[in-house]
Amino acid sequence: VSGRVVLPTGLEKSLTAQILHTYETRLFPSAESIEVKRAFIEKFATVLVSEFPDWEVDIHVFGSSVNGLGSSRSDVDICLTTKHRMLEDVFLLSSVLRKYGMCTYCVPRARVPIVKAWDPELRIAADINVNNTIALHNTRMLQTFVAIDGRVRPFVMAVKHWTKCRDINDAAFGGTLSSYAWATLAIHFLQTRQPPIVPVLHPPAPSLRADKCTDASPVDLTFDDDITRLRDFGRDNTESLGYLLYAFFRTYAFEFDYRHQVVSLRNGCYLSKAEKGWDQGRPSRIFCIEEPFSTWLNLAHSANETAVEGIRQEFQRAFCILRDGGSYDNVCEVY
Ligand code: GTP
Ligand code: MG
Repeated sequence: VSGRVVLPTGLEKSLTAQILHTYETRLFPSAESIEVKRAFIEKFATVLVSEFPDWEVDIHVFGSSVNGLGSSRSDVDICLTTKHRMLEDVFLLSSVLRKYGMCTYCVPRARVPIVKAWDPELRIAADINVNNTIALHNTRMLQTFVAIDGRVRPFVMAVKHWTKCRDINDAAFGGTLSSYAWATLAIHFLQTRQPPIVPVLHPPAPSLRADKCTDASPVDLTFDDDITRLRDFGRDNTESLGYLLYAFFRTYAFEFDYRHQVVSLRNGCYLSKAEKGWDQGRPSRIFCIEEPFSTWLNLAHSANETAVEGIRQEFQRAFCILRDGGSYDNVCEVY
């Protein structure tokens, strides 16, 4: 799958330049957007102290505001940790935020219940959960990958930008894939280059059969985050950003076997659906991207067969545009 793909002469350099231009001018978060996020977190902390003066509540920012993959338009993801479990009731948190002029929407029955908030004053959106700390670990994992090789950040951000423009980055309401699923897929692609650009960070472990685990199953949170040793791991690979994006589109347009393969960032390879017990029922028909920590979960479960076909067509469209000499901007034309 990672065999050399030929990119028409001259296009590789120009595509790399286009990606870097978009990254530097439109994707890299502006100083103003970073300031708005800081102001929101400060305001949110003040609200919590005013409403719950005697409660110890810690605020952890996670997701793309801190993993290096956020743009100016990304939301803020917040995890509150507290021993006051009353706060786990998302409706309580929602009503408090409304008192302070925020618009809120609760998603109480998700695997991770959240409050979605919109601050009309600062014009920023936030997703807030209480006591669900697993995402703090996968945020640190993404941060580690970003720090290993200078291509990771612009490459994953270019992929995320394309998915947002083409309306295939909305797991909750659009039935496609989340930013986290896209980032996992993109980094796995860099991991499976020859030679690889990023390493496997997780310790070897028997692949857990998806049908033998539940949300209560223990999760091994360890992974290698020794940046000093890992930095420049990918120096033997000289592939350009343009070439990587072209090859990424081609892989998922024509080469990846959606029926039988599972993307595994934890193992740095493709697994078979059969070995994970995903060859039966719904997973046998859809896209499978293993969650690197809770390996029995499929990060792409939100996309049904029709959505997966739509996503595959988007890969084909993007590949054909580049093959025919189109630009990254053409690829990202808003749907
Ligand atoms: P943008 O907001 O689109 O820039 O990207 P993001 O990485 O912040 O994505 P999002 O806001 O959708 O999710 C925030 C974080 O929650 C991700 O970075 C992950 O750390 C975590 N997360 C999202 N979806 C999942 C999931 O399905 N499983 C797990 N374990 N964590 C998730
Ligand atoms: Mg986010």
